Amino acid sequence: MRRAVCPGSFDPVTNGHVDIVQRAAGLFDEVFVAVGVNRSKSSSRLFTPEERMAMLEQACGHLDNVRVAGFEGLLTDFCAENDVAAIVKGLRAVTDFDYELQMAQMNASLTEVETVFVPTSPEYSFLASSLVKEVARFGGDVSGLVPPLVLEALTARLAERA
Ligand code: PNS
Repeated sequence: MRRAVCPGSFDPVTNGHVDIVQRAAGLFDEVFVAVGVNRSKSSSRLFTPEERMAMLEQACGHLDNVRVAGFEGLLTDFCAENDVAAIVKGLRAVTDFDYELQMAQMNASLTEVETVFVPTSPEYSFLASSLVKEVARFGGDVSGLVPPLVLEALTARLAERA
């Protein structure tokens, strides 16, 4: 069985993430969506790891071969522990490439894991969780950019924090 992982912070999951996960699910037998739980960054997150994972479960619920997991520490350790052969990353623009290449090469130096880059669909090329949060915080319409359940959670969380 060929397994892949789509790793990220997913704070929160966007339609761009779902597009990449869906396409990875078509290429591999099984795909983990792995939420990085880096405790040092937790205070800057809008959602807890558990909330991010619950949103991903729902957003990817239509994909039978996708499982949501959390991971702490190195992504390559997660890959080794779960028999994952490939890391799938979406590339939005050339500006993503430098950092993603560096991470891919670092990960390849740690284990035999391959990184597969998937070009983001053009309609999502500008999409980032950080921008979604900023636009939503100032009252902009992000309803076309995130799954409906995320829009609901985002609206509620921002209202709590206002
Ligand atoms: O959504 P993000 O914030 O771009 O996700 C980044 C993530 C979680 C994929 C990356 O930070 C990561 O892989 N973290 C795990 C720690 C690790 O393995 N670091 C070495 C990377 S070369």
